[in-house]
Amino acid sequence: MRKKSMLKTVKVAAMSLACLLITNSVMAAEMPEMARGSNYCSTCHKVEGKSVGPSWMEISKFYNGKMARSTSGKSVQDAIGDVPVEQFLIRKVSAGGHGNWGNQPMLANDNVYNKPTELKQKQIKELVEYILSLAK
Ligand code: HEC
Repeated sequence: MRKKSMLKTVKVAAMSLACLLITNSVMAAEMPEMARGSNYCSTCHKVEGKSVGPSWMEISKFYNGKMARSTSGKSVQDAIGDVPVEQFLIRKVSAGGHGNWGNQPMLANDNVYNKPTELKQKQIKELVEYILSLAK
């Protein structure tokens, strides 16, 4: 009797662990919250197709070397200089800027009085990683 209930406990534990692992792997591949639906970034960006800003697929292709020139005619080197891609994009999304995809500016998303917040920097990093992964 005792042995049986012990076995049951082990089975339940194993099943919960399996569920946890499945949930985790699904979540890792998911789009970050801020990129979804009509959330903040998506007021100006779509995954595919032009909006106020360039599509994320286009950005991803460009920085993954699958598109030679941006819509401003720039090469990756022209666009980011000597800064590593991910670092450049995190900074650009934080502080805003224009000129790599036309004259429409992207406003600052996290540099209120030049004091980036830890939470926003984490979210922006996640978003940039997600965007870069689209055309890998
Ligand atoms: C007000 C509209 C607007 C919002 C909101 C916005 N963007 Fe942008 N984004 C733009 C425009 C316009 C550009 C093109 C800038 C340029 O030409 O250099 C751009 C460019 C980019 C680029 C490419 C930068 C480069 O130099 O290649 C990335 C990556 C990006 N946005 C991500 C984001 C993320 C992530 C968010 C949400 C935190 C966001 N954007 C919010 C308008 C916006």
